[in-house]
Amino acid sequence: MRNEVKALYLKFAGGNFYLCIMAKKVIAIDGPAGSGKSTTAKLVAQRLGFVYLDTGAMYRAITLKALESGVDVNDEEKLEKLTKNSVISFGNKDGVNRIWLDGKDVTERIREPHVDRNVSYVSVHKKVRRILVEMQKRMGEENDLVAEGRDTTTVVFPHAFKVYLDADLKERAKRRLLELEEKGIQTTLEEQTGEISRRDKLDSERQASPLLRDKDAVVVDTTHLTIEGQVDRVIQLFQKESARSLR
Ligand code: DC
Repeated sequence: MRNEVKALYLKFAGGNFYLCIMAKKVIAIDGPAGSGKSTTAKLVAQRLGFVYLDTGAMYRAITLKALESGVDVNDEEKLEKLTKNSVISFGNKDGVNRIWLDGKDVTERIREPHVDRNVSYVSVHKKVRRILVEMQKRMGEENDLVAEGRDTTTVVFPHAFKVYLDADLKERAKRRLLELEEKGIQTTLEEQTGEISRRDKLDSERQASPLLRDKDAVVVDTTHLTIEGQVDRVIQLFQKESARSLR
């Protein structure tokens, strides 16, 4: 593991110039929908005092904006323009991680089913990805962070500590069903199994930055793990690797 380099600068002290390197720590977590990435990444970030970066939320925000402004999710040029003209920011309000798009809080709206259904079409576009990846890299240069998504280990943060979370399709569909039910959204296990396997296929077979298991990533299968178990495992692995790379 190498840390992301934040800045190189010259420091003058005691009559001499020193070259200083400030490095930021990044944990990158990828995996398919429902593998437990979001919950795990959020809690790992909280426990380590790192910033939490939900890259999927950024693709969702752009999808929401496209749907609301009538931009075709297959029109790459228009989506590129729309993405360039978007301001996305993250923050924490009353202990809840929130996302703002062009100054409006869209935390709940980006999780609605019509965004679920369309986000994989928006995220295939290279020109959209280029802009969002640039924003993500900048955040990694400025903060110690835990990033989660589909290409954070392979494209966005190639020098991070990398984790690939996975779980059985049935277990992932069950988790998504519970999540939606808690929000009062009516759906079935069958519907969610279909929806998740459709998104798995689109995410892993697309040309631009498909979901891949990076060869350096440690794989954590969460099918039989509790949330606490997943968080502990990732933190243990990260601390072990940090200690090893200091030796
Ligand atoms: O993790 P999620 O379900 O919120 O992600 C929403 C969609 O965004 C998902 O279908 C794949 C896409 N995505 C992506 O292409 N690259 C990322 N780094 C994160 C998400």
